[in-house]
Formats: sequence, structure tokens, C-alpha cells
Amino acid sequence: MELIRSIEKMAARSRKALEQKKIIGFVPTMGSLHEGHLSLVRRAKKECDLVVVSVFVNPSQFGPQEDFAAYPRNLKQDRRLLQTVKADILFYPEAAAVYPKNYRTCVQIEGLLTKKLCGFFRPEHFKGVTTIVAKLFNIVLPQRAYFGQKDAQQCVVLKKMAADLNFPVEVITLPTVREKDGLALSSRNKYLSLEERRQAPELYQALLVARKMIERGERNISKVEKAMKTRLSTIKNLKIQYASVVDGETLDSGKIISGNILIAIAVILGKTRLIDNLILKVKK
Ligand code: PAJ
Repeated sequence: MELIRSIEKMAARSRKALEQKKIIGFVPTMGSLHEGHLSLVRRAKKECDLVVVSVFVNPSQFGPQEDFAAYPRNLKQDRRLLQTVKADILFYPEAAAVYPKNYRTCVQIEGLLTKKLCGFFRPEHFKGVTTIVAKLFNIVLPQRAYFGQKDAQQCVVLKKMAADLNFPVEVITLPTVREKDGLALSSRNKYLSLEERRQAPELYQALLVARKMIERGERNISKVEKAMKTRLSTIKNLKIQYASVVDGETLDSGKIISGNILIAIAVILGKTRLIDNLILKVKK
């Protein structure tokens, strides 16, 4: 595996690969890698000639009160894990090179898409995500980029950005990887105390409650949302940010369930923010 720190070297390496008619697959990450990230790399390896994985804890997507400083960093282990899945290039740029002192430009989607769900609680978050991913797309020049369903809103937002800005990149979404007890893998799970870790799978259980209700014919969104909130309300030290059923493409909320829907939850458990979701196709 090649290790590349310099933005210029990464761009030159990608230009060379494109000249050789290679398909570049890209997996952007913030490191502290786990099986969820590795599942994206494995798929990219199957579909592309050159797989680039970036590790960059992007300061601009963290709010002032959030966990940027505490976010787990473990480049040595990331490197080892990426070798096991045969990633071709690990790109880990320096923050000062990505955002030099005179840096001023950002990419932001207008309208409500980035203001809903997580965007309501993390107002600047998606602006940080679209800005860094646009920059990384311009450096890495992938034809295909891989993202996890776990961050459902991020996938919708990045598909919109790629389409609106004519990035010649296919944005691909892959399923959420879970622990045996249903907890979605996340770098932030490391923050959980033993007791919180025992409680955390309840997010998935609440999602399953919602899915079962819908599969049994319930079409009233507020009833399904209420059932999820009731299930979560029994957990000590848990604050619900949202437990919502929305349109899977627009993320719009409504009254009646139909079509492709996203059932999504965000909570603060102790001090840790956890999100999870399920997608479902409902016949009209
Ligand atoms: P990060 O949280 O490191 O996630 C990197 C990629 O891994 C994202 O596409 C995310 O959805 C995916 N992922 C995380 N947990 C997963 C799981 N349990 N199953 C499947 N995929 C999972 O998301 C980011 O970083 C950043 O916002 C980034 C896109 C890199 C921009 O900075």
C-alpha cells in the first residue's frame, strides 16, 4: 500500500492512473477504522482498479461544542487494517495543507436538505462535509466513491452535491455494518461506558419496532414515530434528538407512509451522539 501525505503527490498519482485508463475508487473516512469502513474498501476493490482511502479528521464538520479534539485517531492501526483489505493508497493529508490560513471557500447546499434531521442539531455540519468531499474529489479524481448507509443524510447530501456540481463521480451507498447485537459500528462507540454500550442496541430495536409496524400495515407516521420514542424513553441518560420517518430521497416529513422511506434516529446517550437508520420500500 502506498502512503501519500502530499496533496500534490496524490493529485499527480491520480492523473497518472487516469492516463492509464484505470478506474479510481475512493473511500473517504475520518480514520479510527472499523469493519464498516472496511466493507466499503472491499466493495471498491471489487469494482475499481485503484482504491484510494483518505483518513482526515475534518475540523470544519464539527461544531464548536463537539468532539473534534477527542475524536479517536489511530493511524498505525488504520494502516494495518487497510493493508488487510488491500487498499492501494492511503491518503492522509495534513490539516494545514487542506485548510491553509487564507482558506475561504466552502460548498454548501441551499434549502432545507441540510437543515433537517442531523442538520437541525448540527447546523454547520453538512457544509463541512460537502466542502471537504468536494475538495477530496478534486484531488483524488475518482469515478466511483463509496459511502455507508449508516450516515443516510450524508449520502443524500453528497449525491445532490455531485449532481449539482457535475462531479463525474458515481456516489455509491452500501449497507450499514452492525455488531451482533444490532449496534451500528461507529468510531464514536469507543466513547460509550460499559452500561451505555449495553443500552446502545436499543436504537436498532426501536428501528425494528417501527419497521414491524409498517410491515404490518401501519401507515400513520406519527404513530410509528411515537412507538419509537416510547421504546427509547425507557433508557436512562438517553436524550432523543429525532426518531423520524421521512421520504428516503428528499428527507421530507409527511403524515402518511408510502414509497421509499427512511426510518432514522439520533440520540445522545450519556455524552455520546449516536445515529442509526433503516430504509424500507412501502407499496402504495
Ligand atoms: P467516517 O465517519 O469515518 O465514515 C466514513 C465512511 O464510512 C462514511 O461513508 C460512513 O457512512 C461509513 N460508515 C461508518 N460506519 C459505518 C457502518 N457501520 N457501516 C457501513 N459504513 C459505515 O463519514 C465520514 O467519516 C465523514 O463525514 C467524511 C465523509 C469522511 C467527510 O469528512
